[in-house]
Formats: sequence, C-alpha cells, structure tokens
Amino acid sequence: MASKRIAPSVLAADFANLQRDVEMINKSEADWFHIDIMDGVFVPNISFGMPVLRDIVKHATKTIDVHLMIVDPDRYIKTFADLGSNILTVHYEACTHLHRTLQAIKSEGMKAGVAINPHTNVNLLEDIINDIDLVCIMSVNPGFGGQSFIENTYKKVKQLREIIVKNNASTLIEIDGGVTNKNAKQLIDAGADVLVAGSFVFKSTNPIQTIKELKEIINT
Ligand code: DX5
Ligand code: ZN
Repeated sequence: MASKRIAPSVLAADFANLQRDVEMINKSEADWFHIDIMDGVFVPNISFGMPVLRDIVKHATKTIDVHLMIVDPDRYIKTFADLGSNILTVHYEACTHLHRTLQAIKSEGMKAGVAINPHTNVNLLEDIINDIDLVCIMSVNPGFGGQSFIENTYKKVKQLREIIVKNNASTLIEIDGGVTNKNAKQLIDAGADVLVAGSFVFKSTNPIQTIKELKEIINT
C-alpha cells in the first residue's frame, strides 16, 4: 500500500511570512502543497491569485496541488499549468462539461482532480472515475479554513473507495476541511489517501512536529 500523504493548506499560512511558511513545509514530512484559489463567486470568499502562487512555486520543493474554487475553471487551465501546478482540481458543481475539462487539464501535463461539495453524492462520479486522478471530498463547505469537520464524510469516503475498486481505477481520495489528529486515522481507514490540513498545522505551536505526528497517525 502506497504511503498516505499530508498536504498542508497554505490558506492558513501567515501571508506576511509566506516564504518562511513555504520553507517550513519544504523541511517537514509533508508531501504536497495544497493551494486554495477562490473567486468570491463560486465561494463567498477570495483567497489569493496567480502572483502569489507564482512566488510560492519559486520556493516550494514539493508537489503543487491546486484546488480551484472558481466558476468556469476552463478559462484558467493553461494559466495554472504555466504557473507550475502539478495537480489541478476543479469543482464538480462548477463544470458543465466535466469530462472535457479533465481532458484539457491532462493535455496541459497536469494530474486532473475533481472536488465535490458536502451535498454532492459520490455516485455522480462513477461514469467518469477512470478519467479522474484525484477526487477531493470536501469535509466542510468550501470557502474558509478553520471550520468543523462534517461527520457524513466517512460514509462518502467508503462509497467512493468502493466505486474506485469496482472500476479498477487508480484515483486518489483526498479529504479537505477540518482535518485533525482526531479524525485522520478514521479517514484513512475509510479509504482516504491524502489529507489536507490547514488550521490544524499552521495554528499549532510547532507545525513541523504536527505534520510529523499526522504522518505517523496515517501511516501506522
Ligand atoms: C476550504 C479549503 C481548505 C481549507 C482547509 O475551502 O479548500 O483547503 O484551507 O482548512 P482547514 O484545515 O483549516 O479546515
Ligand atoms: Zn482546499
């Protein structure tokens, strides 16, 4: 079994000390950088955009996992590829022609991800599962860090794992929102591969140690 991953969410970093926080993730046992891009339309918040991502990529030494919480993401696929994104995740709820969007992401050399809101049923992905490199199950309503984990997520992870196995797909399951040391193990046991953690990492007194502890929890 491939080792399970932690992706700290840069949304919870100190933006006035962004290079310091990027170097912290570089040095830590974290696997990916999770980058939340919001447009104030798909979600009721605006995070940061291309210039900030460009500067993060300059310093980051790990996989760049970009989560687009924007309407009509097709407009920006090439832009995010050029900026150095390795994984580009779009929202199911924001894509009318999801299959076409996924092909466009892959044709730019990135892995293609699909995020689903808490109300979206995982079965809606079954016909397209073999085309998806990563499903990001939102365990909070997207738009803000620091919210509490929605318990129904465990059920969704199990259902999605069954779909992946049944279709012999190699899709990774990522969980995003409210991840802590209290739910990490149960999420992995339900079938998750990657856990995003924002506040739990950055608001802790020793983020490097917190990441190390999370990695131990999910890989034992
Ligand atoms: C929410 C974002 C998450 C967020 C997670 O809209 O997609 O990635 O940063 O933050 P925490 O871990 O604080 O819930
Ligand atoms: Zn996210």
